[in-house]
Amino acid sequence: MNNEPWYKNAVFYEISVRAFKDSNSDGRGDLRGLTEKLDYLQTLGVDCIWIMPIYPSPLNDDGYDIADYYNIDPAYGNLDDLKELISAAHARNIRLVMDLVLNHTSDAHPWFQAARSDKNSPYRDYYVWSDTDQKYKDARIIFVDTETSNWTWDEQAGQYFWHRFYSSQPDLNFDNPKVQEEMLNVARFWLDLGIDGFRADAVPYLFEREGTNCENLPETHVYLKKLRAFMDQHYPERILLCEANQYPEDVRPYFGDGDQFHMGFHFPIMPRIYMALKKGRFEDVAEIMRRTPPIPENCQWCTFLRNHDELTLEMVTEEERQWMWEQYAPDPRMKLNLGIRRRLAPLLDNDRRKLELANSLLFTLPGAPIIYYGDEIGMGDNLDLFDRNGVRTPMQWDDSPNAGFTDGTPFSELVKGRLGYQRINVASQVNDPDSLFRSVKRMIALRKKHEAFGSSSMEWVDAGNPHVAAYIRQHGADTMLILNNLSDAAQCIRIPQEHQGSYLDLFAAHQTTIANELTFPPYSYLWLQKHT
Ligand code: BGC
Repeated sequence: MNNEPWYKNAVFYEISVRAFKDSNSDGRGDLRGLTEKLDYLQTLGVDCIWIMPIYPSPLNDDGYDIADYYNIDPAYGNLDDLKELISAAHARNIRLVMDLVLNHTSDAHPWFQAARSDKNSPYRDYYVWSDTDQKYKDARIIFVDTETSNWTWDEQAGQYFWHRFYSSQPDLNFDNPKVQEEMLNVARFWLDLGIDGFRADAVPYLFEREGTNCENLPETHVYLKKLRAFMDQHYPERILLCEANQYPEDVRPYFGDGDQFHMGFHFPIMPRIYMALKKGRFEDVAEIMRRTPPIPENCQWCTFLRNHDELTLEMVTEEERQWMWEQYAPDPRMKLNLGIRRRLAPLLDNDRRKLELANSLLFTLPGAPIIYYGDEIGMGDNLDLFDRNGVRTPMQWDDSPNAGFTDGTPFSELVKGRLGYQRINVASQVNDPDSLFRSVKRMIALRKKHEAFGSSSMEWVDAGNPHVAAYIRQHGADTMLILNNLSDAAQCIRIPQEHQGSYLDLFAAHQTTIANELTFPPYSYLWLQKHT
């Protein structure tokens, strides 16, 4: 896209390396396996992959509990395998970003081991300790299903330590300049290996201050700006993607003046897409878009339908949350923390029309879209598995035993039933022109061809019908009219005069005239490029 930064109109793809492809028959996916599958990602049209943590870890939080920031868990391979993956990806014009987990380490990390065993260790102050568990009472508990406090008593240390996630993930003390420095060194190490940036995990929680909810504190922004300045100085073109599960007005400061994060996930739009599909009305999406402040020109939102965590309902009202649970989590096993641990296809009843419509919204609303591995083929989930593991099952490559994921014994049960690999797999979809995979691939290709989709401009069109989301995306001379019928009934819409005229229907690849009135089939979508 002309002179625009590469990430503004890029299509991202999130991968659990452990679950993607096993190359050495040990039952766990690895870097070489992922390298083998780059052609597949290139076929789909992916520009950048984000791999979940691959660092040595006791895996109490699937690798978000890091025991060594400078290595790769041997189950995934070694540093040479990563270099090989990076160069094979770059050869295909695919970039790669990794998780940077700043907020906490594993309790197995040598820093924590030293800190807990010796009050005078220089590492003691790497963590947040207290003699009471009464400090920072206004900070919420995030993993409400497993944790009862953000403080855990440590027998060895004789003090409580602070943690925002599992009690096996002690928070680092960012008030300690050494911690700040350590994490810059970590960033440097991986950037020197050639990765294209980081998805920065859980950034709102870096600092603690009494009398606040310990989220989004000014000190946090000061540090993140330092990290950005460091990257700009030594690694231009590499990106920082912000994971801050917050309302858009609270994510906005993470972009700074274009001098903090390049990208930030737009969390609240995600549950509202599901609300819109269930209600058959677009008002919730429109409302959150209206509430989304402009961001600096060199920044971009990152939008998603699902990821490796539960479908989070933190950024909705209590009433909306209950409603979402009623609608989308009828079986209590589907609920997790303040969310729903299901994948895209089962959430949308494996209804092809809804799956395409959800993707149509994802690819045409502002922001760079990210696909969660397997959702492009409509993979299912496995509710028998603990916590979020139910949505992190092996990728379904074909209908051979273990889904073509491994020749060994898979680390996890696979998906069972109608969305299991026997029916839903890559091999059967790649060459089938009518498959979901091919629809998603077409959307990606069209999106990437048109600068309008990467721009920040969006204008709602009053089509006189609450069931049809109609909007204009525009960049320079490239103007798109997008129509999505969210309801299960045909809808009649009125197109205002200024938007009537001759358009190219991008999917049908033919010219069409949009006149005053238009009848639109249930769950259908149109991407129209204005004739100039
Ligand atoms: C990640 C989670 C992880 C948590 C703690 C997040 O927000 O997405 O998977 O459990 O950070 O690291």
